[in-house]
Amino acid sequence: MDYSGKKTIEDIDVKGKKVLVRCDFNVPLSDGEIVDDKRIRESIPTIKYLSDNGAGVILCSHLGRPKDEESKKKCTLAPVAVRLSRLMGKEVKFTTDIIGDEAHAMAADLKPGEIMLIENVRFYKEETKNDPAFAKALASLADIFVNDAFGTAHRAHASTAGVADYLPAVCGYLIKKEITVMGGALANPKRPFVAILGGAKVSDKIGVITNLIDKVDTLIVGGAMAYTFNAARGWRIGDSKFEPDKVELAKEILAKAQAKGLKFLLPVDNVAADKFDVNANIKVFEHGIDDGWMGLDIGPKTQKIFADAVADAGTVIWNGPMGVSEMPPFAHGTIAVAKAIAESNSVSIIGGGDSAAAVEQLGFADKMTHISTGGGASLEFLEGLELPGIACLDDK
Ligand code: 3PG
Repeated sequence: MDYSGKKTIEDIDVKGKKVLVRCDFNVPLSDGEIVDDKRIRESIPTIKYLSDNGAGVILCSHLGRPKDEESKKKCTLAPVAVRLSRLMGKEVKFTTDIIGDEAHAMAADLKPGEIMLIENVRFYKEETKNDPAFAKALASLADIFVNDAFGTAHRAHASTAGVADYLPAVCGYLIKKEITVMGGALANPKRPFVAILGGAKVSDKIGVITNLIDKVDTLIVGGAMAYTFNAARGWRIGDSKFEPDKVELAKEILAKAQAKGLKFLLPVDNVAADKFDVNANIKVFEHGIDDGWMGLDIGPKTQKIFADAVADAGTVIWNGPMGVSEMPPFAHGTIAVAKAIAESNSVSIIGGGDSAAAVEQLGFADKMTHISTGGGASLEFLEGLELPGIACLDDK
């Protein structure tokens, strides 16, 4: 999808206007404490620009998937207001209201440059239903809508897409950055273009594989997904997790890749365990895996093959871990791939989710060209699907 023609905050006059900004403040929390504030930090350039240019800034977001009154307590955005205020060195007013009198009064009183945050929009079930009345009520807080929630751009919800029916709608700097870097890599990659896909299921990644197979020079597949592919090429996979109903599909993909002359790299050795447990017995298998053992990570030979393919890449896109990276004995493949990308001179793009978390935890973040703030959203973007939260914005 080409969104380069969408208006941005720099294309409109925001001075003296009330601007509703949809951010993705869906951050991980533990006992009410924010564990990772990357998404908050990444939203600051847009908020600062609007505030510095005389707008009254009304922020909104979802957090979690609150279902009932009990879960709502854990999904309040109050800690986000505190963190954002600290990071910006500026007051961020917070209201527990969303579209009621209190939110309207606070928005009406907002002076140019001031910032406020309303409570979690998902406290209304109308939000995820993209209910027009709820979208209209949100829109009535402001004069302009800015979407900067890339992580939620794949959702057609009231605060991500619906409000654009009622207000001039443009994107913020974060969405602009995400679509420019990822869109640029897909449309005009520096070659060789290498995609590394991991994770559990072929079915989760089939859209990305189908879209990328026409664009990349090398496709690398690791993670549990690779066992379905290795089964498709007739290798023994022991007790490894795989999708029997996707073996035919995997065969078709392998045949297509071969017909295209694409380099399609799969694990040639695997670290296997006798049970799914951090304390399991471990054995490295070359080629096939014996019964009674399940592959949980790529092996050392595969690590080297994958790293070599990355070393001379012009562009690398990575989405999904190579093994059970949350268990240290099975994290070596993911670490090796992260390190190889960090050491390469490629344009390196890390699709959000687990691979982004791995890169951050390992301290390689500043070595990457771009780490997406979207998990599901970046995957859908790489699949070439329309993102409703961006498609709804005004064209230049
Ligand atoms: C995410 O973390 O992927 C986004 O914030 C979207 O959240 P959701 O999957 O609950 O819609």
